[in-house]
Amino acid sequence: MNELRIDTEHLRQYVSDDEIKQIAGDVLEAKKTLLDGNGKGNDFLGWVNLPEELDPQIVSSIKKDVARLAPKIKLFVVIGIGGSYLGARAVIEALQSEFAAMMPAQHPYVVYAGHTLSEDYYKQLLVLLDNNDYAVTVISKSGTTTEPAVAFRIVKAHLENKYGKEEASHRIIAVTDARRGALHEIAVQERYPMYVIPDNVGGRFSVLTPVGLLPIAMAGYDIDALLQGARDMRCLCIDNDDVMQNPALLYAALRNILYRKGRKVEMLVNFLPNLKYISEWWKQLYGESEGKEGKGILPHSLSFTTDLHSMGQYVQQGERLMFETFISVDKPSSKVAIPADEQNLDGINYLLGKSLNDINHNAELGTMIAHRGGGVPVLKICVPKVDEYVLGQLIYFFEFACGVSGYTLGVNPFDQPGVEAYKKNMFILLGKPGYEGQELV
Ligand code: PA5
Repeated sequence: MNELRIDTEHLRQYVSDDEIKQIAGDVLEAKKTLLDGNGKGNDFLGWVNLPEELDPQIVSSIKKDVARLAPKIKLFVVIGIGGSYLGARAVIEALQSEFAAMMPAQHPYVVYAGHTLSEDYYKQLLVLLDNNDYAVTVISKSGTTTEPAVAFRIVKAHLENKYGKEEASHRIIAVTDARRGALHEIAVQERYPMYVIPDNVGGRFSVLTPVGLLPIAMAGYDIDALLQGARDMRCLCIDNDDVMQNPALLYAALRNILYRKGRKVEMLVNFLPNLKYISEWWKQLYGESEGKEGKGILPHSLSFTTDLHSMGQYVQQGERLMFETFISVDKPSSKVAIPADEQNLDGINYLLGKSLNDINHNAELGTMIAHRGGGVPVLKICVPKVDEYVLGQLIYFFEFACGVSGYTLGVNPFDQPGVEAYKKNMFILLGKPGYEGQELV
């Protein structure tokens, strides 16, 4: 088993062992509340045992859908917003080439829709779909979210026009609620293949259901390894009550200690651009779970060394609001040699013999020491590499820590009442039936 672990070396001057001991009681109580299922939002705890309890037939059925569709498509359109697409995108973008869109491919390339209302985006997507064979999955737990509904209406019309209604119905897979919602109704009426999002799994905790597994498998990645990573991490998170040894409990403890000391912003930092969408997924997971009742750490993200040349100045010397959480990956998947050059006009011959990964790691260490010295607590989540197994571990680790951290903070980590306000205003402004005469909030 490849262990994910938390390194607190660069945190010591900010958080003492005594402070961890002091908060340990709250964190263990939060863990107990989560596992006993007697806290706020306890009807949305299906994700806790999901890696163990997921019906293997669902995985087999996903693989059959991949075998049926992948040979005849170049593109797979994933329609969804928030928790209905970010997890899949996080895993796919972590694993695929940065240049996958431009490369010959063995597997369908995933494109996304339903996460924006940009007219230009849909025009550009339709041009792409004109020129490529494709299939679609439309993912919405409620089945009523406006953004994916609009996208699906547009893409469905294009698909039916391109392939005819009958063939189109074999190229659409719905992922939605077992009984309710407009998408469920459409899928039943049109006889689309359908996967169910369990009632007790909320959107941002749904990546290990067909919401994430179908797109990830369609993109050619190993969902068995992903689930195995999550299963192994689940055991580690559940079985161990030593806050110092259980990475999810330690992460939940540290971020709550820092928050109580006035660190209101957490920056998730990566040194690999492929991890950008892991950060996007994490921002939603923590932002929606904790940002309520006037409380919660503001989740923010940075990609270094790129952002050291934009945000680095602020982090080093700006207002001391934040702490950083580095995702530190030990080994890259590839090697690139730095060529020798006798003239050495660029002055970088001193780097010869080092790998790019060595250089990146030294940038990482140098940054941690500099930021720590500049007044920013830095904690490090260490993983050995980026593959499906490790991503499964990382996903479950962040989910479990989020549940524990939210209960430690004293909020319901499993609702998102604040998301409704913009929707209500949008419906009033657009004249949706039922919203006539209502006040903007
Ligand atoms: O985490 C959540 O619950 C949300 O982000 C939802 O995933 C998002 O709003 C999309 O909702 P739905 O899947 O119902 O279309």
